[in-house]
Amino acid sequence: MAHRKLKLLKRDGFVILDPYEGRISPEEWESLNYLDWKSGGDTNFAVLASADGTDDPRGFWEYGKPDKDGVWTENIQKAPTLKRWVESSGVRYGRVRIIKLNPSSNLEEVQTRFLHQDDNNRLNPDGEGWVVRAWMNLTDDPDSYMVLREDKDDPSTERHIPLLRNAQFLVDTERLWHAVYHPGPEPRYAMITSFESGPELEKWVRARMPK
Ligand SMILES: [Fe+2]
Repeated sequence: MAHRKLKLLKRDGFVILDPYEGRISPEEWESLNYLDWKSGGDTNFAVLASADGTDDPRGFWEYGKPDKDGVWTENIQKAPTLKRWVESSGVRYGRVRIIKLNPSSNLEEVQTRFLHQDDNNRLNPDGEGWVVRAWMNLTDDPDSYMVLREDKDDPSTERHIPLLRNAQFLVDTERLWHAVYHPGPEPRYAMITSFESGPELEKWVRARMPK
């Protein structure tokens, strides 16, 4: 049996949504505990939801779980708006993290070294929803964008997602190669949430798709 997937991701593997309309205080991401964890560049991560509620950035498979049913960590006490963003989606969620990406003006390095696919569906039982990832960009990064490629070695498959403040988008990151080009000058912060594909996620996306 295959995993349940969203039809609306079938063509491109990603969808750009309307920006989040609320305001979020920078304290909700700046005051968190960041761990040294590299993914797609010079990054640090703050864990908001982990497999068991401990401050562990590793995959849920370390705990014998698929990337679902995340448990809030201590950090979440400082991030009430972000918590509400996730919970009010009504979607089954797994890991929730803040990524802090330090600037680099080397686009070629992003395209040749940092592009990667995620491992979102390890231990995901057959017949359940495919795990994809939702982003909200927290800082305003008008010169930055996410680089996506269907084929890592084929630049003609490359697409870009702009990273303005409150930008929201959904990506099948186990299918698409991805990394962020961020020339700075300040670090870029974004929240990344693992969501399970299914009717709830479809509803959440449809309510935010540009008209
Ligand atoms: Fe990734």
